[in-house]
Amino acid sequence: AEVSWTRHCDVVVVGTGAAGLSAVVGLLAAGLDVAVVTRGEITDSSTDWAQGGLAAVWSPDDDAELHLNDTLVAGAGLCDEDAVRDLVVHAPDALRRLIGLGAHFDTDASGAIDLHLEGGHHARRILHAGGDQSGHEVERTLIDSVLGKLDVLTGTRLVDVLTDAGHQACGVRVLDDQSRIGEVSARAVLLATGGIGQLWPTTTNPEVSTGDGLAAALRAGAVIRDAEFMQFHPTILVVPPAHRIPGDRGVLISEAVRGEGAFLIDSAGRRVMAGVHPLADLAPRDVVSAAEQAHMAATGEDHLFLDATGFGAERWETSFPSILAMCRERGVDPVTEPIPVRPGAHYHCGGVAATMSGVTSVPGLRVIGEAACTGVQGANRLASNSLTEALVMGERAAAELAVDLRSRPLPGPASARPAAGLRAAEVVDDIREAMADHVSVLRDAVGLADALRVLADLPAAPRLDDAVLTATNAAQVAQLVATAAAERTESRGCHRRSDYTQRRETWRLHIDQQLDEAGQV
Ligand code: SIN
Repeated sequence: AEVSWTRHCDVVVVGTGAAGLSAVVGLLAAGLDVAVVTRGEITDSSTDWAQGGLAAVWSPDDDAELHLNDTLVAGAGLCDEDAVRDLVVHAPDALRRLIGLGAHFDTDASGAIDLHLEGGHHARRILHAGGDQSGHEVERTLIDSVLGKLDVLTGTRLVDVLTDAGHQACGVRVLDDQSRIGEVSARAVLLATGGIGQLWPTTTNPEVSTGDGLAAALRAGAVIRDAEFMQFHPTILVVPPAHRIPGDRGVLISEAVRGEGAFLIDSAGRRVMAGVHPLADLAPRDVVSAAEQAHMAATGEDHLFLDATGFGAERWETSFPSILAMCRERGVDPVTEPIPVRPGAHYHCGGVAATMSGVTSVPGLRVIGEAACTGVQGANRLASNSLTEALVMGERAAAELAVDLRSRPLPGPASARPAAGLRAAEVVDDIREAMADHVSVLRDAVGLADALRVLADLPAAPRLDDAVLTATNAAQVAQLVATAAAERTESRGCHRRSDYTQRRETWRLHIDQQLDEAGQV
């Protein structure tokens, strides 16, 4: 397709969640010319939806070693200890800087910042805002800090990362909301495109989380690591049929609700987590989701219930006002009845292999936030570590780029224009069905082979448009996830196999995927 418009800048940032925007704050402070590309409005991000909060050592009863240890335990042997240490040591300062930018976190009666508890944490260390609107406060703060200081290309979607003859990233090709192709050339490319939850029918992720960054990075030559580790959150509201809202793909009931004492039961009122794990309902979420799945398989029911009726109306209204409102809008009143729930696609622990400052295997291309795989999440992310990681990575990437760009050779003109095998728009539903049936909380060889067969046989599309790009990237990323899931013949973290139920020491390694010369993974 023809290029309708071009733009030049020092750094192009794709994505406007916590990772992208915190990088923008740093890049602007360094006096760099920044262009921001975002698929929807500037607020369309997982960050804006995040309920739980931000994990950081804050209380005198807590310390970095404890936070490190909880993260490593949740990560089930696949974390990079140096990356985790880097995160937990720098998290409190990153949060203090955010507070310096104007973020308000909830406080207790004494005026001190109030800390929540979530699954897998052995100390209260989750800072939160507006009860259950923590991410919105992060997003608001960062947007307020950058708005008016740069051009934000909204309604503009990443198609490909452009590379020069030396395979150095030199900009991005985008599709704008008038279906025109644009090219933003840049001395460095920073992808902060978030997750891939939209590959599954039930997800906590916004509509924009279709894996665009992962697919584009793969096509530009980057290494994708640990793609099989998709975290399924245990408590997604199951909306009663009469109250379904079109396009609604899942409402998250924050783990903080269990942190305050809510518990999972089945329709007969039996506790789901009793005897499963010492932390019971606050076990790491891979354990909870797997236990739910097993319980549902045993009872033949397709959902369970989260009982938080013990809170009473006042506690619901002050601690979890937005969850309360979202449930009531959908015909469920958590004050008086248990909430119907099931697990849903939540967070991609895998991603583009990157350092804590986003450096990837492609020169000039940095990837930060959920789209990256740094070794902090391992095989299963610890609750509320992700917004913190996004902030730390965004700041770090910006600081390094400010230095880097003084000495980095200018990229040449774009040469390789990666051409994806375009997929027909309507295949998205087939992909979601295959992912739900075979690449979900519990997996096995037969199902994964079925999913890979579906993915290998998707009809092509003649021309790139918005829906075709969604289908193309979804197909590419689904294939990465299913391939790695089939390869990993063990159960570890959020990758659970019913045919290989044990963790195996020989599998304490990463699965890296990259395109070969022929464009095959
Ligand atoms: C939640 O509020 O349960 C989500 C927290 C997280 O995913 O980190």
